[in-house]
Amino acid sequence: MERLINAGFARADAVLACDTDQSKVSEIKRRLNVMTSVDNRDAARFGDAVVLAVPPKQAPQVLEEIKDSLSESQIVISLVGLVSIVFIEETPRLGIGVARVMPNLPSLVGSGFNVVSFGRYINSEDKQWGKNLLNVLGTYREIEEEKMEIYSLVSAMGPTYFLPFVDTLIGEAAPAAPSVGHRHVRGFGGH
Ligand SMILES: NC(=O)c1ccc[n+]([C@@H]2O[C@H](COP(=O)([O-])OP(=O)(O)OC[C@H]3O[C@@H](n4cnc5c(N)ncnc54)[C@H](OP(=O)(O)O)[C@@H]3O)[C@@H](O)[C@H]2O)c1
Repeated sequence: MERLINAGFARADAVLACDTDQSKVSEIKRRLNVMTSVDNRDAARFGDAVVLAVPPKQAPQVLEEIKDSLSESQIVISLVGLVSIVFIEETPRLGIGVARVMPNLPSLVGSGFNVVSFGRYINSEDKQWGKNLLNVLGTYREIEEEKMEIYSLVSAMGPTYFLPFVDTLIGEAAPAAPSVGHRHVRGFGGH
């Protein structure tokens, strides 16, 4: 969300962020000045695109909660691992367009590599809009949904293991060997 606003793709006053924890939405409001709510149904009614980013275990319950607030003129962009497009399509029973994205952490700075699969109801205009959005986050690849979990091992979980290593290399070694960690990362990243 922050990247999309900072890059000018989305206006802060056209975004509503939702979390059931008031302290989290207050922090998001302070940082990004977007509208906020602690009611998932507000988020589902708001805007042309609804981004679902809850943990996989919560997704069925949240979809059930918001299904009557969605309309078929919207699209759902799901970042949720393991929850299929068909499941998301079938909960509201609307024929709603769905894009399932496996996010990659460097998207925060516009250097992500995100994979996406589209559902059967999404129209070509919304699909193109979704691709434009992904371009703002870095590069993307459209894949068959059955390959999503394989890609997720590298693009979603990869940073979980890679970043602590980089952090140690740069952070811990920095006082003894200034800038060496940065140079290693840049050097390997360029090849
Ligand atoms: N981070 C990544 O690199 C990455 C990569 C690939 C896929 N994903 C997927 O993307 C999704 C979000 O990832 P994340 O790293 O942002 O996870 P996260 O840090 O656990 O965030 C999930 C958010 O959903 C909120 N939430 C939980 N239950 C909710 C409910 N019933 N209604 C509304 N909000 C609720 C949580 O709030 P509370 O903490 O207040 O419960 C939390 O703020 C997950 O499905 C994850 O599998 C993430």
